[in-house]
Amino acid sequence: MADSSRQFDFLVLGSGIAGLTFALKVAHAGSVAIITKKNRAESNTNYAQGGIAAVTSEEDSFESHVSDTLDAGGELCNEAVVRGIVEEGPARIKELIQLGMKFSERENRGHLELDLGREGGHSNRRILHAKDVTGREIERALLAAIAAHENITVFENHLAIDLITTAKLGQAQENRCVGVYVLNNQTGEVETFSAPRITLATGGCGKVYLYTSNPDIATGDGVAMAYRAGATIANMEFIQFHPTCLYHPEAKSFLISEAVRGEGGVLANLRGERFMEGVHPLESLAPRDVVARAIDREMKRSGDDHALLDITHKPARFLMDRFPNIYKTCLSYGVDITKEPIPVVPAAHYQCGGVRVGRHGETDLAGLYAIGEVACTGLHGANRLASNSLLEALVYARRAAGHELEHPPEPVAVELPKWHSGSATDPDEMVVVSHNWDELRRLMWDYVGVVRTDKRLKRALARVRNLQEEIQAYYWDFTVTSDLLELRNLATVAELIVRSALERRESRGLHYTLDYPEPVDSLARQDTLLRCE
Ligand code: SIN
Repeated sequence: MADSSRQFDFLVLGSGIAGLTFALKVAHAGSVAIITKKNRAESNTNYAQGGIAAVTSEEDSFESHVSDTLDAGGELCNEAVVRGIVEEGPARIKELIQLGMKFSERENRGHLELDLGREGGHSNRRILHAKDVTGREIERALLAAIAAHENITVFENHLAIDLITTAKLGQAQENRCVGVYVLNNQTGEVETFSAPRITLATGGCGKVYLYTSNPDIATGDGVAMAYRAGATIANMEFIQFHPTCLYHPEAKSFLISEAVRGEGGVLANLRGERFMEGVHPLESLAPRDVVARAIDREMKRSGDDHALLDITHKPARFLMDRFPNIYKTCLSYGVDITKEPIPVVPAAHYQCGGVRVGRHGETDLAGLYAIGEVACTGLHGANRLASNSLLEALVYARRAAGHELEHPPEPVAVELPKWHSGSATDPDEMVVVSHNWDELRRLMWDYVGVVRTDKRLKRALARVRNLQEEIQAYYWDFTVTSDLLELRNLATVAELIVRSALERRESRGLHYTLDYPEPVDSLARQDTLLRCE
């Protein structure tokens, strides 16, 4: 198979808010390649409904945002990291607006000001949003700026396979990342990209679960590649389940934004009983871990297959204006949110752990940075506060860019070998891949979901290991395809989630286990770390 080599000053994997912001900040200093799996707008960011949490009003304060974040995070957040991100927030928002982002505004005493939404766990209105399509508007603004930049090349339909490190090349010097093998899905060829600095901005891993709010691209590629290359992975047991995804046989992954509860939406069971009363002082607006567990408990108790979210007490005109996307999408499935409660279920939504990074997004593998959902910075701890992630992505994209520009690596005199597909032939048994995809996602949902036990986790680990053996054999025997590569990454991430969950012998934040139902004081501030030896 033919192979082509491409050299850049900066390589960015992923085209969501983190990757695009980073690319714009380094492009004046050299050539930048953005490698993205599908089309350039297809990212988790694009589907973000809620918005960006930041302190922009006089009624709000940094202290309040910091304390809400720490409360949600179950004593596992790094307070200095939280404070730094919160305090940088207003400046990063200003930059985004200067770049062309249009947030929703409202009139106040004759002048326009930013309209601030509220979401679970926030004690103030502080969510900047563009109606209920915030992510789409962010992608529009950033991609327009990218298109105007001649130093940036976007490689669409290119899927990164593995990081190339000097250790893998048998070099004696310090292990560092020097390139990436990438499958070009248009030609079927594997290309070698080289750069002295590589930034992962690949998002999360929602597709490891059967039910998720995430798009198909969220297959944990960044975490899996970083782990295989030797970087440290932290806190993967903390998978956030969004309490309210639309429950409908044909609605794939459609989120009902927490902003709906922020505007007064109330959760109830199928008999109309409001089950959040007495569970948490914020009731339906409690932090997500509390709400998702309460829905799970209520569904198990009653045997119902979903819960209800009722916002019908708000004027229809307000709902249609504030939530145009949710209104239209629900209506297309036969649910008029202005007249009837919305059927909802929890679904996997956000990966709070990831590749462990320092203050500037630097990993412990030289030459490799990680920003956005793929990274574990210390902000989210055991449970992410709603809408903090887009803010974290903006802050870390800027910091990583600054660090990479200030610390140019010594050139590494090493020629990157071409990809060898060995004796691989075209796959003729794709059914094995699709069967294993389904099996993996279902077993993660059944055994590693909202409520866990050691027995279920051990059962899951045994199954994941079996699947990994099969996938590995398939990987060596056949030509690589994106389905196979994504399955391999999902299996790696599943293994990391299960092993991390087994290591945490307590319940904290999003990790709830019946075997250890209480938090353990001595484990507060202890991250779960895994590294491939
Ligand atoms: C939502 O709109 O509910 C999602 C916001 C988030 O996950 O931060």
